[in-house]
Parts: sequence; C-alpha cells; structure tokens
Amino acid sequence: MKVIDFGRKKVLKQKISMLTCYDFWSAQIIEESDIDCILVGDSLAMIMHGYSNTIPATVEMIASHVKAVCRGAPGKFVVADMPFLSVRAGISQAMRSVDTLLKAGAQAVKIEGIKGHQRIIHHIVESGVPVMGHLGLTPQSIHQFGGFRVQGKENRDAERLIRQAGEVEEAGCFALVLECIPSNVAADITEKLAIPTIGIGAGSATDGQVLVLHDLLDLTSKFEAKFVRKYLKGKELILDALRQYDEDVKSSSFPSERESYR
Ligand code: KIV
Repeated sequence: MKVIDFGRKKVLKQKISMLTCYDFWSAQIIEESDIDCILVGDSLAMIMHGYSNTIPATVEMIASHVKAVCRGAPGKFVVADMPFLSVRAGISQAMRSVDTLLKAGAQAVKIEGIKGHQRIIHHIVESGVPVMGHLGLTPQSIHQFGGFRVQGKENRDAERLIRQAGEVEEAGCFALVLECIPSNVAADITEKLAIPTIGIGAGSATDGQVLVLHDLLDLTSKFEAKFVRKYLKGKELILDALRQYDEDVKSSSFPSERESYR
C-alpha cells in the first residue's frame, strides 16, 4: 500500500486495516499478512516500556522502533507517531523530528490534534511528508481530558470535532484517525471528508480500523477497552508454554535424546 492508495480505497469503499507494531519479530509476521499498514504508535511507551501513558515517548525512542519494524516489514506502509509536544515547539524542532522518523524508515507521520499547529502540519505536508491526523481521545492530552474518556458526546464537542476534522483535511493530511468517539459522530465526519477516516473505538462507519496489536492478541493484562476484539488468548497461551517448559526442565524431560548432540 502507498499513500495514494488511502484515498483510492475510500473511493472504492474498500476498508483499510491498520495495526500498531513496535518490533522486528512481530513486523515480520505482519509482513506476511494482508494488513494494509503499520502504525509505530507512541503507545509503545506503555506497551514496550511500561509507562502509564504515552507522554514519556521521545522521537529517538520511536525512531529506534521504526527502524526495527521497517527491517521486519519492508513491504508495508509505516506511519510513525510524532510524540508529545514535538509539534508545539516551533517549525524547526518539528521538522527535525520528522527528519529523524523518516530517516528511520517511516513513510508518514501521525500528529495528534490540530488546534494551534495546523500551519506546522501544512508545512510538513508541503515538505513532501505525508501526515495522518488524529482526533478524539488523543492520548497525549490525557491530563487535559482527565483520563481516558470517550470524546464528542455532547453536541458542542461533537460539532468541534467535526469542524477540526475539516481543518485536518484542509491542512493536507492524507487520512485521519478517530479515537473513542460516538459512532454517529465518526460516521458524520467520514461522510463529510474526502480523506479516509481510520477508527479505534469509533464504530463501524469509518473507512478503516486500527488496533493495538498487543490488545488484539490479548498479550497485556492491563485495562480492557470496550472497543477491543481479542483474536487470540495470547497471554494464556504463552503462560501455558512457559509452565510446560518449566515443568519439562525440572522433570528432566527436556532436552530429550533428539534434542541433544551425540
Ligand atoms: O499510539 C497509538 O497506538 C495510537 C493508536 C491507538 C491510534 O495512536
């Protein structure tokens, strides 16, 4: 998939599948799948580094994961998150961050919010870098929201989201992630925009869906979001394997003759 395919898929009413990915081995597996594109999200601060939110993610941290993912999935379209405040300290710093992420191998960057940095987004796009927008529950604003809460429930907030979605498109973004907003608001935005919307907790009317790989595989034991569908009991399967290995070592049934050199 290339950046031009996002708009094409919307026109053809073909849904876009996106997954987060942070490392080489899972990227290799995604490379063998039909998943359309990969997001090296700043959620890696939580999933891979154990922080309680995405704020500690840095450009260098994300770039290091982008490099590993691009080595594992050279055929996939890779979007890298611009971390907390990286677009709020002026164009020069934003461009240095974009430069680092693109040189690490990403083909596009994702930027949360629009208010106050529409001009910077436009500048990045004008510089030849595809930008994906992100509205709704933008986790970098968690302290302003007062927690992980559904956004756009009140009429006024929904209207603001719809207006901001238009600004994201005007700024030149090629797609827009809508996180944790009511389905009818996401449907309205999806209908109004020419660029595709990619939902996470935003209902089924969006032009595509994105999930965190570790949630889909049920690998984490953290808070369970209503919008996550689990396709594997990953943690349970891994624990079973570890239990079995531990038992085999302690009962001397591993290694066997066949697993040993003569
Ligand atoms: O960082 C991330 O994983 C994201 C998705 C939840 C959209 O931004």
